[in-house]
Amino acid sequence: MKRIISMLLMLSLMTASWALAEKQQDMENYTRYFDYQPIANEPIGLVPGADHSTLVLYFSRVGNTAFPEDVDAVSYATLNLDSEGKLIGTAQMAACWIAEATGGDVFPIQTAYTYPESFEDTITVVVGQEEDNIQPQIAAYPEDLSGYDTVWLVLPVWAYTICKPARAFLENIDLSGKTVYVFTTHCGSGMADAVQRVQDFQPNADVRRGLAIASDNPQSSQDEVLQYIHSVQK
Ligand SMILES: Cc1cc2nc3c(=O)[nH]c(=O)nc-3n(C[C@H](O)[C@H](O)[C@H](O)COP(=O)(O)O)c2cc1C
Repeated sequence: MKRIISMLLMLSLMTASWALAEKQQDMENYTRYFDYQPIANEPIGLVPGADHSTLVLYFSRVGNTAFPEDVDAVSYATLNLDSEGKLIGTAQMAACWIAEATGGDVFPIQTAYTYPESFEDTITVVVGQEEDNIQPQIAAYPEDLSGYDTVWLVLPVWAYTICKPARAFLENIDLSGKTVYVFTTHCGSGMADAVQRVQDFQPNADVRRGLAIASDNPQSSQDEVLQYIHSVQK
């Protein structure tokens, strides 16, 4: 009996130290390029709309970056303000248009750690993660995707392809059998290889090309996005 108890004790000690080592490895992976932090609040998770057969997924730097409260969007390239003067990401803005037009549920993709405030430092982190093949940890996944038949994806282009957090997210969900519309936001790369990349992660989904939204003037794409939604809803 004593022997069994001490074996069990040893086993649980080993499991605990593995978990600790994994956590330390995560921290090392994250702080290797820049000293950045876990997200301060609970992840936003699913924001229900009126149509629970449609899901809008997006990733934006806003919501995944520790911007100061009083951030001045004018001095930060690529940031926008909403009608209330709050920061809004380009992909987030396009996701809002799509959610309003379709009535779909919305799920923001969030990483467990924020990216640095400075655009240049974010690039350093992203290049490091690409080179070392480090997957950003995702803060939360939707609980149940089975009820959705249509998914709208709005993803920023980072390093000429869909951003790494989106890839980490897509690797761990299953969109089989669903129609998936892919939109990008970008500052020159357009759609890049987004459609193929999403199809590679989701071989059993019907992946369709949406539109590329330029992040320096996203509002100019709104009509086109709404027309696109209208054309596929006919
Ligand atoms: C790390 C990083 C890499 C980027 N690489 C590219 C790129 O290769 N091509 C491009 O057109 N834009 C690139 N961008 C610009 C982003 O696409 C742009 O900031 C984004 O679409 C804005 O959307 P958001 O506000 O929702 O994050 C990059 C941005 C970051 C932060």
